[in-house]
Amino acid sequence: MDTTQQMQQTKSLRDMGKKLTQATLMTSPFKCDKCNNTGFILTTNDNGYEIAKECECLKERVKSSRLSFADIPEAFRDITVSSFDLSLYKTPEGKRQAEIAKKLCSNYIKNFEQMANSGKGLYLFSNTKGSGKTRMAVSIANALIKHKNTPVKFTTAIRILEEIKATYSDNNKSESDLLAAISRVDVIIFDDIGTENPTPWVKEKFYSILNERLINGKVTMFTSNCRIEKLNLENRIVNRIQKMAIPIKFPEESVRGYIAEKENENYMKMLLK
Ligand SMILES: Nc1ncnc2c1ncn2[C@@H]1O[C@H](COP(=O)(O)OP(=O)(O)O)[C@@H](O)[C@H]1O
Ligand SMILES: [Mg+2]
Ligand SMILES: [Zn+2]
Repeated sequence: MDTTQQMQQTKSLRDMGKKLTQATLMTSPFKCDKCNNTGFILTTNDNGYEIAKECECLKERVKSSRLSFADIPEAFRDITVSSFDLSLYKTPEGKRQAEIAKKLCSNYIKNFEQMANSGKGLYLFSNTKGSGKTRMAVSIANALIKHKNTPVKFTTAIRILEEIKATYSDNNKSESDLLAAISRVDVIIFDDIGTENPTPWVKEKFYSILNERLINGKVTMFTSNCRIEKLNLENRIVNRIQKMAIPIKFPEESVRGYIAEKENENYMKMLLK
């Protein structure tokens, strides 16, 4: 690298440092004396030029800011695909489906680069609530953030639409900025689609978000209580979801009851002592 290149790199690193500092890192819980919380260390090279080096703390800062950007519910912050418990499913069919779903999801993460290049996400579905769809979607988000260095946004269709509505009454926020941000984020997860009975306005917004993401080749994931073809949405939306996501069937079995049962068993043992 010649000196001009080096100076340019230093400048762009500095700009990047400033942006990161202003945008997200100011609120990050990290304190670093080495770089004064800027994420960059300035040193002088052999030619007497000042160059910027990334500080060791930067990777951790970015990871932590991504985790808070993702909006993952507090209770789900640390769950993983590998701790997805197959023994909770009682019927042979449920066990089998859970096992396949777990395998498909963990292989999806392994092959994420290729999937992302083709803009392919996942569509996790089953009619029964409490079968583990949201838990799995969040585990995938955690893995992509922590191990694939990918920004992920976890949300529900309803929440996004509320955020859009909120821009109408807030002079500091614009709908187009928000929509642009939603179309740009690498991975977005829409939890629980298909349950609402959408108004025409909602359908229009949801369509334009999905269409933008499809055109930009971004990864979109869904959890839903019905198969794609049965979604209570227009054909043009259904068609786009079919293009952007691979369907994965979850068991028709709620594990909520079993989890409560297991928990109570443990307390019972304690009380019996
Ligand atoms: N395979 C699993 N292993 C461990 N916990 C699970 C599993 N499946 C579901 N749960 C837990 O059961 C509850 C309901 O699961 P959830 O993912 O919300 O279901 P769904 O989204 O299908 O309605 C959550 O508390 C979740 O953490
Ligand atoms: Mg759910
Ligand atoms: Zn530092």
